[in-house]
Amino acid sequence: MSKRRPTPPDSYTVLLIGGGGREHALAWKLRQSPRVKALYATHTQNAGIASLSQPIDHAHSMRELYRLELFCERAGVNLVVVGPEAPLAEGIAEKLTTPGRVVFGPGRQAAQLEADKAWAKQIMRAAAVPTAESRVFKHPEEAKRYLETREEAPVIKATGLAAGKGVYLPDTLEEAIKAIDEIMVQRRFGDAGAQVLLEERLSGPEASVLALVDGRSILVLDQAQDHKRIGEGDTGPNTGGMGAYCPAHVLTDEQMTRVEREVFLPIVDTLRRDDIEYRGILYAGLMLTPAGPKVLEFNVRFGDPECQALLPRMKCDFAELCWRTATGTLDECELSFDPRHACCVVLAQHGYPGESKKGAAITGVDEVERAGVHVFHASTTRSPSGELLSGGGRVLSVVAMGDTLEQARERANAAAATIRFEGKVYRRDIGAKALVTH
Ligand code: AMP
Ligand code: GLY
Repeated sequence: MSKRRPTPPDSYTVLLIGGGGREHALAWKLRQSPRVKALYATHTQNAGIASLSQPIDHAHSMRELYRLELFCERAGVNLVVVGPEAPLAEGIAEKLTTPGRVVFGPGRQAAQLEADKAWAKQIMRAAAVPTAESRVFKHPEEAKRYLETREEAPVIKATGLAAGKGVYLPDTLEEAIKAIDEIMVQRRFGDAGAQVLLEERLSGPEASVLALVDGRSILVLDQAQDHKRIGEGDTGPNTGGMGAYCPAHVLTDEQMTRVEREVFLPIVDTLRRDDIEYRGILYAGLMLTPAGPKVLEFNVRFGDPECQALLPRMKCDFAELCWRTATGTLDECELSFDPRHACCVVLAQHGYPGESKKGAAITGVDEVERAGVHVFHASTTRSPSGELLSGGGRVLSVVAMGDTLEQARERANAAAATIRFEGKVYRRDIGAKALVTH
């Protein structure tokens, strides 16, 4: 006897978890859905999220998740959308799922694809997914002994969650030893650095390929390209991402089909064989090497800032898309992409990705919004008098659309220049690489 397929509810009361630019974009997209009756958010100190949602009734803490469960019951939440990886890795999806409530985002075990890079490599091996050769070490001395056998310095990664900062690309073996010490001995990322992964260094252009996965069906989204380094021309330290554009064409259509067949399908199947059902966004960070696309990492959520460049192009009822992903009925979903190009430029506070100051007054946001540019807040607050203030780090993501990538870039860069705050830094070359190579 076949199970009855769930049908989507007439209206959604949504809870959004997370507080950055990605989550502001998610809130904005959810708000477009006429069936979203109410939107609650855990992080309404973010002025952008606050403008679109209602706060929950307590101070959110992952240690007191029972309070969030109670809130969901009281408010009648029937859809929870989780933005960041950390709560997923801690098991928020299973904690908040009930017969009448679904969660967009994978369960705790599946989320280890991002939270435990050593386990992710095992799964990739079991699924025969193309990825860099690697070894895991539990002791710094063993890792260093292995280094002595190498001619070139490998990439060094903390295996746990390190907010995008746990990857080192040393040029010399001395730098590699320093990286191992920082991760394993000084414990710069705490327990996330209890083990390290030493990985073959690959080269080639990078692409972020994200797919919606409902346990079985896989819907691959248009490619986006992130810009990870802080400085123009890809210089300086790695960041969470300084900008993105979408669609990117790093991979050809044929390579995208291969990625679907050789990366997403086998991963989802391998997990299912272990009784792990993956539901949510699966993000493959890929490098196009001379031997074809290889996986650098998996993330279990939308990328930030890729999300801000993707969502304005997605034509769908986003609440329903999330609901269908969570209920295994993605095959009934209608999704298409706006043919226009999106360019997202991140405005950060001087000092990022290190320490940066908070509190600078921000002006010009209304003006660029009136011109049709999206401004997603990553780290802002509103003063009691209503002034918009920077919260430091990545402050805003400015997203412009255009009939061509050039046009989208020009608009985004003009908007980035119009918005002002003391200590503003941004890259003027987001998307420029695409114009040179294609
Ligand atoms: P990850 O957080 O694993 O995506 O790594 C962050 C960045 O480090 C990637 O976007 C790449 O630019 C770089 N990276 C990671 N792994 C490798 C690798 N095996 N070879 C070369 N670069 C890498
Ligand atoms: N922008 C890369 C990430 O979200 O991990």
